[in-house]
Amino acid sequence: MNQRIGIEAMALCVPARYLEMEDLAQARGVDPQKYAIGLGAKQMALTDPGEDTVALAATAARRLFDRHRIDPERIGLLICGTETGVDHSKPVASYVQGLLELPHDMRTYDVQHACYGGTAGLMTAIDWIASGSNAGRAAVVIAADIARYGLRTPGEPTQGAGAVAMLVSNDPRLLEIDRPAMTGMFSDDVHDFWRPHGRREAVVDGHYSVDCYLEALDGAYRGWRKKALERGLVRWSGGLASDGLAHVAYHVPFCKMAQKAHAKLRAADLAEVGRPLDPEAEKMEAVRGARSFEAQVAPTLVLPSRIGNAYTASLYIGLLGLFSANDRALPGRRIGLFSYGSGCASEFFSGVAGPDAASPELKAEIDRLLDSRERVSIAEYEHWMNTDPVAPPTLEPRPGTYRFAGIDAHRRLYLRG
Ligand code: COA
Repeated sequence: MNQRIGIEAMALCVPARYLEMEDLAQARGVDPQKYAIGLGAKQMALTDPGEDTVALAATAARRLFDRHRIDPERIGLLICGTETGVDHSKPVASYVQGLLELPHDMRTYDVQHACYGGTAGLMTAIDWIASGSNAGRAAVVIAADIARYGLRTPGEPTQGAGAVAMLVSNDPRLLEIDRPAMTGMFSDDVHDFWRPHGRREAVVDGHYSVDCYLEALDGAYRGWRKKALERGLVRWSGGLASDGLAHVAYHVPFCKMAQKAHAKLRAADLAEVGRPLDPEAEKMEAVRGARSFEAQVAPTLVLPSRIGNAYTASLYIGLLGLFSANDRALPGRRIGLFSYGSGCASEFFSGVAGPDAASPELKAEIDRLLDSRERVSIAEYEHWMNTDPVAPPTLEPRPGTYRFAGIDAHRRLYLRG
Protein backbone atom coordinates (compact mmCIF):
# COMPACT_ATOMS: atom_id res chain seq x y z
CA MET A 1 0.00 0.00 0.00
CA ASN A 2 1.36 3.42 -0.90
CA GLN A 3 0.95 5.38 2.33
CA ARG A 4 0.84 9.14 2.61
CA ILE A 5 3.81 10.20 4.74
CA GLY A 6 5.26 13.59 5.51
CA ILE A 7 5.29 16.57 7.80
CA GLU A 8 2.12 17.02 9.81
CA ALA A 9 3.19 20.11 11.78
CA MET A 10 6.23 22.30 12.43
CA ALA A 11 7.35 24.74 15.13
CA LEU A 12 10.20 27.25 15.29
CA CYS A 13 12.51 28.53 18.00
CA VAL A 14 14.68 31.59 17.42
CA PRO A 15 17.08 33.16 19.91
CA ALA A 16 15.79 36.18 21.83
CA ARG A 17 18.40 38.54 20.37
CA TYR A 18 19.58 39.57 16.91
CA LEU A 19 22.13 41.83 15.28
CA GLU A 20 21.38 44.15 12.36
CA MET A 21 23.81 43.36 9.55
CA GLU A 22 24.17 47.06 8.84
CA ASP A 23 25.63 47.52 12.34
CA LEU A 24 28.09 44.68 11.75
CA ALA A 25 29.12 46.11 8.38
CA GLN A 26 29.76 49.51 9.93
CA ALA A 27 31.79 47.98 12.78
CA ARG A 28 33.92 45.94 10.40
CA GLY A 29 34.41 48.76 7.88
CA VAL A 30 32.58 46.83 5.15
CA ASP A 31 30.16 48.32 2.59
CA PRO A 32 26.70 47.37 3.97
CA GLN A 33 25.69 46.40 0.42
CA LYS A 34 28.14 43.50 0.59
CA TYR A 35 26.08 41.91 3.37
CA ALA A 36 22.67 43.05 2.10
CA ILE A 37 23.15 42.31 -1.61
CA GLY A 38 26.35 40.25 -1.75
CA LEU A 39 25.23 37.78 0.95
CA GLY A 40 21.48 38.55 1.12
CA ALA A 41 21.56 39.03 4.91
CA LYS A 42 19.50 41.58 6.86
CA GLN A 43 19.71 40.32 10.45
CA MET A 44 21.54 37.57 12.30
CA ALA A 45 20.22 35.66 15.32
CA LEU A 46 22.48 35.70 18.37
CA THR A 47 22.43 33.27 21.30
CA ASP A 48 23.63 33.81 24.84
CA PRO A 49 24.95 30.79 26.77
CA GLY A 50 21.47 30.15 28.21
CA GLU A 51 20.26 29.44 24.68
CA ASP A 52 22.34 26.38 23.88
CA THR A 53 21.33 23.78 21.30
CA VAL A 54 19.36 21.77 23.88
CA ALA A 55 17.40 24.86 24.95
CA LEU A 56 16.61 25.77 21.32
CA ALA A 57 15.60 22.20 20.44
CA ALA A 58 13.46 21.71 23.56
CA THR A 59 11.73 25.06 23.07
CA ALA A 60 10.85 24.22 19.44
CA ALA A 61 9.58 20.78 20.51
CA ARG A 62 7.56 22.24 23.41
CA ARG A 63 5.89 24.67 20.97
CA LEU A 64 5.12 21.80 18.57
CA PHE A 65 3.50 19.66 21.29
CA ASP A 66 1.57 22.56 22.87
CA ARG A 67 0.27 24.25 19.72
CA HIS A 68 -0.87 20.98 18.15
CA ARG A 69 -1.96 19.32 21.41
CA ILE A 70 0.11 16.24 20.53
CA ASP A 71 -0.45 13.25 22.77
CA PRO A 72 3.11 12.18 23.76
CA GLU A 73 1.97 8.53 23.57
CA ARG A 74 1.69 9.03 19.77
CA ILE A 75 5.47 9.41 19.47
CA GLY A 76 7.73 6.38 18.96
CA LEU A 77 10.83 8.07 17.55
CA LEU A 78 12.62 11.28 18.50
CA ILE A 79 15.61 12.32 16.38
CA CYS A 80 17.64 15.49 16.66
CA GLY A 81 19.79 16.51 13.71
CA THR A 82 22.55 18.77 14.98
CA GLU A 83 26.26 19.49 14.61
CA THR A 84 26.46 21.66 17.73
CA GLY A 85 25.38 19.29 20.51
CA VAL A 86 26.50 19.85 24.09
CA ASP A 87 28.24 16.52 24.73
CA HIS A 88 30.22 13.98 22.70
CA SER A 89 28.05 11.11 23.97
CA LYS A 90 24.76 12.23 25.45
CA PRO A 91 22.47 13.30 22.61
CA VAL A 92 20.39 16.47 22.51
CA ALA A 93 17.40 14.18 21.85
CA SER A 94 17.67 12.61 25.30
CA TYR A 95 17.71 16.05 26.98
CA VAL A 96 14.60 16.94 24.98
CA GLN A 97 12.91 13.70 26.03
CA GLY A 98 13.62 14.49 29.68
CA LEU A 99 12.67 18.18 29.55
CA LEU A 100 9.37 17.43 27.81
CA GLU A 101 8.75 14.41 30.04
CA LEU A 102 8.12 12.18 27.04
CA PRO A 103 7.33 8.47 27.47
CA HIS A 104 10.16 5.91 27.73
CA ASP A 105 8.82 3.60 25.02
CA MET A 106 10.55 5.33 22.13
CA ARG A 107 13.85 5.52 20.21
CA THR A 108 15.85 8.71 20.83
CA TYR A 109 19.09 9.70 19.18
CA ASP A 110 21.01 12.46 17.40
CA VAL A 111 22.15 12.39 13.79
CA GLN A 112 25.24 14.28 12.68
CA HIS A 113 26.44 15.15 9.23
CA ALA A 114 27.08 18.92 9.25
CA CYS A 115 23.99 20.77 7.97
CA TYR A 116 22.51 17.57 6.47
CA GLY A 117 21.71 15.97 9.88
CA GLY A 118 18.11 17.24 10.03
CA THR A 119 17.34 15.77 6.61
CA ALA A 120 19.00 12.48 7.57
CA GLY A 121 16.62 12.44 10.56
CA LEU A 122 13.60 13.28 8.43
CA MET A 123 14.40 10.55 5.88
CA THR A 124 14.91 8.02 8.68
CA ALA A 125 11.56 8.94 10.20
CA ILE A 126 9.83 8.60 6.82
CA ASP A 127 11.43 5.19 6.19
CA TRP A 128 10.54 4.08 9.74
CA ILE A 129 6.88 4.88 9.09
CA ALA A 130 6.90 3.38 5.57
CA SER A 131 8.41 0.13 6.89
CA GLY A 132 5.60 -0.33 9.39
CA SER A 133 8.06 -0.42 12.31
CA ASN A 134 6.25 2.58 13.72
CA ALA A 135 3.19 0.45 14.55
CA GLY A 136 0.90 3.41 13.95
CA ARG A 137 2.99 5.94 15.83
CA ALA A 138 4.51 9.23 14.66
CA ALA A 139 8.05 10.66 14.86
CA VAL A 140 9.41 14.00 16.01
CA VAL A 141 12.45 15.26 14.12
CA ILE A 142 14.24 18.35 15.38
CA ALA A 143 16.89 20.29 13.48
CA ALA A 144 18.75 22.61 15.86
CA ASP A 145 22.06 24.45 15.65
CA ILE A 146 24.11 27.48 16.53
CA ALA A 147 26.29 28.63 13.62
CA ARG A 148 29.49 30.25 14.93
CA TYR A 149 32.51 31.28 12.90
CA GLY A 150 34.20 33.71 15.23
CA LEU A 151 34.75 37.44 15.26
CA ARG A 152 36.34 39.16 12.25
CA THR A 153 36.49 35.98 10.13
CA PRO A 154 35.03 35.86 6.58
CA GLY A 155 32.30 33.59 7.98
CA GLU A 156 31.30 36.12 10.67
CA PRO A 157 28.39 37.65 8.67
CA THR A 158 27.01 34.16 7.98
CA GLN A 159 26.33 33.11 11.58
CA GLY A 160 22.91 32.60 13.20
CA ALA A 161 20.95 30.02 15.19
CA GLY A 162 17.57 28.37 15.45
CA ALA A 163 15.62 25.15 15.75
CA VAL A 164 12.71 23.60 13.89
CA ALA A 165 10.69 20.72 15.30
CA MET A 166 8.66 18.57 12.90
CA LEU A 167 5.95 16.02 13.51
CA VAL A 168 6.30 13.28 10.87
CA SER A 169 3.30 11.03 10.36
CA ASN A 170 0.72 9.46 8.05
CA ASP A 171 -1.27 12.71 8.19
CA PRO A 172 0.97 15.12 6.21
CA ARG A 173 -1.07 18.27 6.67
CA LEU A 174 1.92 20.50 5.80
CA LEU A 175 3.97 18.53 3.27
CA GLU A 176 3.42 15.07 1.82
CA ILE A 177 6.81 13.76 0.74
CA ASP A 178 6.98 12.27 -2.78
CA ARG A 179 8.01 8.66 -2.37
CA PRO A 180 8.95 5.88 -2.43
CA ALA A 181 12.61 6.42 -3.25
CA MET A 182 11.92 9.76 -4.89
CA THR A 183 15.11 11.45 -3.78
CA GLY A 184 18.34 12.28 -5.54
CA MET A 185 21.55 11.95 -3.54
CA PHE A 186 25.12 13.14 -3.85
CA SER A 187 27.87 12.61 -1.29
CA ASP A 188 31.65 12.88 -1.38
CA ASP A 189 34.68 13.04 0.91
CA VAL A 190 35.55 16.76 0.77
CA HIS A 191 37.11 19.12 3.32
CA ASP A 192 35.09 22.28 2.86
CA PHE A 193 33.92 22.96 6.42
CA TRP A 194 34.87 21.35 9.73
CA ARG A 195 35.03 21.90 13.49
CA PRO A 196 37.74 19.91 15.27
CA HIS A 197 36.96 18.53 18.75
CA GLY A 198 37.24 21.19 21.44
CA ARG A 199 36.53 24.14 19.14
CA ARG A 200 33.36 26.24 19.42
CA GLU A 201 33.88 27.97 16.08
CA ALA A 202 33.65 26.19 12.77
CA VAL A 203 36.40 26.54 10.19
CA VAL A 204 35.38 26.92 6.58
CA ASP A 205 37.10 27.09 3.23
CA GLY A 206 34.29 29.45 2.20
CA HIS A 207 34.62 29.74 -1.57
CA TYR A 208 35.47 26.05 -1.94
CA SER A 209 32.40 25.16 0.18
CA VAL A 210 30.24 27.07 -2.30
CA ASP A 211 31.72 25.02 -5.16
CA CYS A 212 31.17 21.76 -3.24
CA TYR A 213 27.55 22.74 -2.53
CA LEU A 214 26.89 23.49 -6.22
CA GLU A 215 28.49 20.26 -7.41
CA ALA A 216 26.41 18.29 -4.91
CA LEU A 217 23.24 20.11 -6.00
CA ASP A 218 23.94 19.28 -9.64
CA GLY A 219 24.33 15.57 -8.82
CA ALA A 220 21.41 15.31 -6.41
CA TYR A 221 19.01 17.31 -8.60
CA ARG A 222 19.78 15.22 -11.71
CA GLY A 223 19.13 12.07 -9.65
CA TRP A 224 15.78 13.40 -8.42
CA ARG A 225 14.80 14.71 -11.86
CA LYS A 226 15.34 11.34 -13.54
CA LYS A 227 12.90 9.69 -11.12
CA ALA A 228 10.46 12.62 -11.15
CA LEU A 229 10.28 12.53 -14.97
CA GLU A 230 9.77 8.77 -15.00
CA ARG A 231 6.92 9.12 -12.51
CA GLY A 232 5.40 12.11 -14.33
CA LEU A 233 5.84 14.49 -11.37
CA VAL A 234 7.44 17.04 -13.71
CA ARG A 235 7.80 17.20 -17.50
CA TRP A 236 9.76 19.18 -20.06
CA SER A 237 6.71 20.23 -22.10
CA GLY A 238 8.22 23.36 -23.63
CA GLY A 239 9.87 24.58 -20.42
CA LEU A 240 12.35 23.28 -17.88
CA ALA A 241 11.64 20.27 -15.68
CA SER A 242 12.19 22.47 -12.61
CA ASP A 243 9.35 24.76 -13.80
CA GLY A 244 7.07 21.99 -12.51
CA LEU A 245 8.03 22.94 -8.95
CA ALA A 246 6.01 25.80 -7.49
CA HIS A 247 8.86 26.55 -5.07
CA VAL A 248 12.34 25.30 -4.33
CA ALA A 249 13.73 25.60 -0.80
CA TYR A 250 17.51 25.31 -0.61
CA HIS A 251 19.85 24.91 2.31
CA VAL A 252 20.82 28.52 3.03
CA PRO A 253 24.17 29.10 4.77
CA PHE A 254 23.56 32.66 3.51
CA CYS A 255 20.69 33.79 1.29
CA LYS A 256 22.79 34.57 -1.78
CA MET A 257 23.69 30.86 -1.85
CA ALA A 258 20.10 30.09 -2.86
CA GLN A 259 20.47 32.42 -5.83
CA LYS A 260 23.63 30.62 -6.96
CA ALA A 261 21.90 27.29 -6.35
CA HIS A 262 18.85 28.18 -8.40
CA ALA A 263 21.02 29.28 -11.34
CA LYS A 264 22.84 25.92 -11.09
CA LEU A 265 19.55 24.03 -11.05
CA ARG A 266 18.32 25.80 -14.16
CA ALA A 267 21.69 25.24 -15.85
CA ALA A 268 21.32 21.50 -15.16
CA ASP A 269 17.94 21.62 -16.93
CA LEU A 270 19.21 23.76 -19.80
CA ALA A 271 22.13 21.37 -20.34
CA GLU A 272 19.63 18.53 -20.73
CA VAL A 273 17.34 20.37 -23.11
CA GLY A 274 20.41 21.20 -25.20
CA ARG A 275 19.29 24.68 -26.18
CA PRO A 276 21.88 26.70 -28.06
CA LEU A 277 22.84 29.56 -25.78
CA ASP A 278 23.71 32.32 -28.24
CA PRO A 279 24.06 35.82 -26.67
CA GLU A 280 20.38 36.66 -27.33
CA ALA A 281 19.14 33.37 -25.84
CA GLU A 282 21.48 33.89 -22.90
CA LYS A 283 19.97 37.33 -22.27
CA MET A 284 16.48 35.85 -22.33
CA GLU A 285 17.47 33.06 -19.95
CA ALA A 286 18.89 35.67 -17.56
CA VAL A 287 15.48 37.39 -17.49
CA ARG A 288 13.62 34.08 -17.12
CA GLY A 289 16.07 32.96 -14.43
CA ALA A 290 15.56 36.15 -12.41
CA ARG A 291 11.78 35.82 -12.69
CA SER A 292 11.89 32.19 -11.70
CA PHE A 293 14.09 33.02 -8.68
CA GLU A 294 11.58 35.63 -7.50
CA ALA A 295 8.62 33.26 -7.89
CA GLN A 296 10.11 29.92 -6.89
CA VAL A 297 12.78 30.79 -4.34
CA ALA A 298 12.47 34.32 -2.86
CA PRO A 299 9.49 33.41 -0.58
CA THR A 300 11.67 30.76 1.11
CA LEU A 301 14.30 33.37 2.04
CA VAL A 302 12.15 35.69 4.14
CA LEU A 303 13.01 33.98 7.44
CA PRO A 304 16.64 33.03 6.67
CA SER A 305 17.41 36.66 5.80
CA ARG A 306 16.31 37.62 9.35
CA ILE A 307 17.82 34.66 11.21
CA GLY A 308 21.02 33.82 9.35
CA ASN A 309 22.51 30.36 9.15
CA ALA A 310 21.20 27.69 11.51
CA TYR A 311 23.07 24.77 9.92
CA THR A 312 20.68 21.73 10.07
CA ALA A 313 17.66 23.97 10.64
CA SER A 314 18.31 26.40 7.75
CA LEU A 315 16.45 24.49 5.04
CA TYR A 316 13.49 23.92 7.35
CA ILE A 317 13.43 27.56 8.47
CA GLY A 318 13.13 28.46 4.78
CA LEU A 319 10.30 25.96 4.33
CA LEU A 320 8.53 27.26 7.43
CA GLY A 321 8.82 30.77 6.04
CA LEU A 322 6.99 29.59 2.92
CA PHE A 323 4.23 27.98 4.99
CA SER A 324 3.90 31.05 7.21
CA ALA A 325 3.37 33.39 4.25
CA ASN A 326 -0.32 32.43 4.34
CA ASP A 327 -0.30 31.89 0.56
CA ARG A 328 -3.76 30.49 -0.23
CA ALA A 329 -2.51 29.10 -3.56
CA LEU A 330 0.12 26.90 -1.90
CA PRO A 331 -1.86 23.81 -0.78
CA GLY A 332 -1.72 21.14 -3.49
CA ARG A 333 1.42 22.53 -5.13
CA ARG A 334 4.75 20.70 -5.40
CA ILE A 335 7.85 21.99 -3.58
CA GLY A 336 11.46 20.93 -4.20
CA LEU A 337 13.93 20.80 -1.30
CA PHE A 338 17.72 20.65 -1.36
CA SER A 339 19.67 19.72 1.73
CA TYR A 340 23.47 20.06 1.87
CA GLY A 341 25.86 19.16 4.65
CA SER A 342 29.54 19.90 4.22
CA GLY A 343 31.89 17.00 4.19
CA CYS A 344 29.64 16.24 2.19
CA ALA A 345 26.17 14.68 1.93
CA SER A 346 23.22 16.11 0.06
CA GLU A 347 19.74 15.22 -1.05
CA PHE A 348 17.16 16.70 -3.42
CA PHE A 349 13.59 15.65 -2.71
CA SER A 350 10.09 16.98 -3.14
CA GLY A 351 6.66 17.02 -1.63
CA VAL A 352 3.17 18.42 -2.08
CA ALA A 353 1.96 21.18 0.25
CA GLY A 354 -0.95 20.06 2.42
CA PRO A 355 -4.08 21.84 3.64
CA ASP A 356 -2.28 23.54 6.57
CA ALA A 357 0.44 25.02 4.34
CA ALA A 358 -1.39 28.37 4.35
CA SER A 359 -2.36 29.27 7.88
CA PRO A 360 -2.90 32.71 9.39
CA GLU A 361 -2.18 31.24 12.87
CA LEU A 362 1.28 30.07 11.81
CA LYS A 363 2.00 33.46 10.25
CA ALA A 364 0.90 35.25 13.43
CA GLU A 365 3.11 33.00 15.58
CA ILE A 366 6.23 33.47 13.43
CA ASP A 367 5.67 37.25 13.24
CA ARG A 368 5.31 37.37 17.02
CA LEU A 369 8.50 35.36 17.55
CA LEU A 370 10.55 37.60 15.27
CA ASP A 371 9.02 40.84 16.48
CA SER A 372 9.62 40.03 20.16
CA ARG A 373 13.38 39.71 19.65
CA GLU A 374 15.74 42.29 21.11
CA ARG A 375 18.19 44.12 18.84
CA VAL A 376 21.71 44.18 20.28
CA SER A 377 24.58 46.60 19.77
CA ILE A 378 27.97 45.49 18.46
CA ALA A 379 29.37 45.75 22.01
CA GLU A 380 26.66 43.42 23.33
CA TYR A 381 27.17 41.03 20.40
CA GLU A 382 30.90 40.81 21.07
CA HIS A 383 30.22 40.40 24.80
CA TRP A 384 27.98 37.38 24.17
CA MET A 385 30.40 35.91 21.63
CA ASN A 386 33.20 36.09 24.22
CA THR A 387 31.16 34.78 27.17
CA ASP A 388 32.07 31.40 28.65
CA PRO A 389 29.42 28.96 27.36
CA VAL A 390 29.10 27.12 30.67
CA ALA A 391 28.63 30.25 32.77
CA PRO A 392 25.11 31.26 31.74
CA PRO A 393 23.68 34.60 32.80
CA THR A 394 21.02 34.37 35.47
CA LEU A 395 18.14 35.38 33.21
CA GLU A 396 14.69 33.90 33.68
CA PRO A 397 13.41 31.93 30.70
CA ARG A 398 10.55 33.56 28.81
CA PRO A 399 7.21 31.74 29.05
CA GLY A 400 7.20 28.60 26.92
CA THR A 401 10.99 28.48 26.54
CA TYR A 402 13.86 26.54 28.12
CA ARG A 403 17.23 27.93 29.18
CA PHE A 404 20.51 26.30 30.15
CA ALA A 405 21.09 27.26 33.79
CA GLY A 406 24.55 25.91 34.64
CA ILE A 407 26.27 22.66 35.55
CA ASP A 408 25.61 20.98 38.88
CA ALA A 409 28.48 18.52 39.44
CA HIS A 410 28.24 16.78 36.05
CA ARG A 411 24.62 17.50 35.10
CA ARG A 412 23.54 20.28 32.79
CA LEU A 413 20.55 22.03 34.30
CA TYR A 414 17.69 23.65 32.40
CA LEU A 415 14.91 25.98 33.52
CA ARG A 416 11.48 26.17 31.92
CA GLY A 417 9.59 29.44 31.67
N1 COA B 1 28.04 45.44 -2.90
C1 COA B 1 27.39 44.35 -3.36
N2 COA B 1 27.94 43.11 -3.40
C2 COA B 1 29.20 42.97 -2.95
C3 COA B 1 29.95 44.06 -2.45
C4 COA B 1 29.32 45.34 -2.44
N3 COA B 1 29.95 46.41 -1.99
N4 COA B 1 31.16 43.59 -2.09
C5 COA B 1 31.18 42.27 -2.34
N5 COA B 1 30.00 41.90 -2.86
C6 COA B 1 29.58 40.55 -3.28
C7 COA B 1 30.67 39.79 -4.01
O1 COA B 1 30.68 40.12 -5.38
C8 COA B 1 30.22 38.36 -3.75
O2 COA B 1 29.16 38.04 -4.62
P1 COA B 1 29.26 36.71 -5.53
O3 COA B 1 29.39 35.56 -4.57
O4 COA B 1 27.98 36.69 -6.27
O5 COA B 1 30.46 36.85 -6.36
C9 COA B 1 29.64 38.42 -2.35
O6 COA B 1 29.37 39.80 -2.09
C10 COA B 1 30.59 37.92 -1.28
O7 COA B 1 31.80 38.58 -1.43
P2 COA B 1 33.18 37.82 -1.23
O8 COA B 1 34.29 38.73 -1.54
O9 COA B 1 33.15 36.52 -1.96
O10 COA B 1 33.08 37.55 0.35
P3 COA B 1 34.05 36.81 1.31
O11 COA B 1 35.32 36.42 0.65
O12 COA B 1 34.13 37.66 2.49
O13 COA B 1 33.32 35.43 1.66
C11 COA B 1 31.72 33.74 2.03
C12 COA B 1 31.95 35.14 1.48
C13 COA B 1 30.27 33.36 1.82
C14 COA B 1 32.60 32.73 1.29
C15 COA B 1 32.08 33.74 3.56
O14 COA B 1 31.20 34.59 4.23
C16 COA B 1 32.00 32.35 4.17
O15 COA B 1 32.96 31.59 4.12
N6 COA B 1 30.85 32.01 4.77
C17 COA B 1 30.58 30.67 5.26
C18 COA B 1 30.23 29.81 4.06
C19 COA B 1 29.51 28.58 4.45
O16 COA B 1 28.66 28.61 5.29
N7 COA B 1 29.85 27.47 3.81
C20 COA B 1 29.18 26.27 4.07
C21 COA B 1 28.49 25.91 2.78
S1 COA B 1 27.12 25.01 3.11
